[in-house]
Amino acid sequence: MIANVNGKICGGDDAVVSVFDHGFVFGEGVYETLRTYERRPFLLERHLQRLRASAAMIDLALPLDDAEIGRRIAETIAAVEGGTEVYLRILVTPGPGEFSYDPTARRNPTFVIIARTFAPPSPGLYAMGVTITVVSISRSQPNSVNPLIKSNNLLPNAMAMREAMRRGAYEGLMLNYRGEITECTQSNFFIVKQDAILTPPLESGLLAGITRELIIECARETGVPLEETVIRMHDLLTADEAFLSSTTRELVPVVQVDRHVIGTGQPGAVTTRLLGAFRERAVRLSR
Ligand code: PDD
Repeated sequence: MIANVNGKICGGDDAVVSVFDHGFVFGEGVYETLRTYERRPFLLERHLQRLRASAAMIDLALPLDDAEIGRRIAETIAAVEGGTEVYLRILVTPGPGEFSYDPTARRNPTFVIIARTFAPPSPGLYAMGVTITVVSISRSQPNSVNPLIKSNNLLPNAMAMREAMRRGAYEGLMLNYRGEITECTQSNFFIVKQDAILTPPLESGLLAGITRELIIECARETGVPLEETVIRMHDLLTADEAFLSSTTRELVPVVQVDRHVIGTGQPGAVTTRLLGAFRERAVRLSR
């Protein structure tokens, strides 16, 4: 693992930031997770757009333009030894300052890129599918900390994921206060019903996932009906297929939710076809 801290590439042990950083003191900051395909950062423009949107929602101005961020990412990828693909995490925090919420208290945002070789999930996971669990922690309401903000402050997600781990599940599915399905702790969520793909709308309170966006584009391109619509537990329990999506996982079939088996208990045909279309598109878009 290496890191680029404010433009300086360092090994794991030397990658340090100030304890007075408001990212540490107040838990303020935003991030993005990217991966490479053929050693090129995938959908960088979309990730930077979302990073800027997240930063704006927490009154944080990004200290660098896209060209400079692109240069730093390229240098950081070049410094990762071995492996074919690279995992990247970009983190921006307000930087060090007096202990005040006044934005003028911090003047030099901290800009970090963490990089390591990327190990994709095993082929067996895609072949077998996974079991997820519905967790007791709700996804925050959009008028609380809006889930559209890709916030470094991941306490609810971490607690929800630990609950899922205690139950031996691969992911934790979170509902909102109205009981609508939103997303998992680190991924977006989809079901398939009568050959149509359904995914919760952003208004249910979830991250606008870039993989989710690409899946919507793939479905349009391949003529599979896809609708962003409110999904409740009843819809999930009567679904033919389900899957989750994220940058690091692409599309992972979900074959069981707690004790309930989804469809045939095997990865479904629509999910499998869509995963193929997604991978083709990913390679095409990364060239
Ligand atoms: N997680 N929802 C949540 C809460 C997430 O944390 C993520 C991504 C997603 C999927 O978004 P995308 O398709 O843009 O990766 C949905 C990343 C991988 C992470 O936390 O490292």
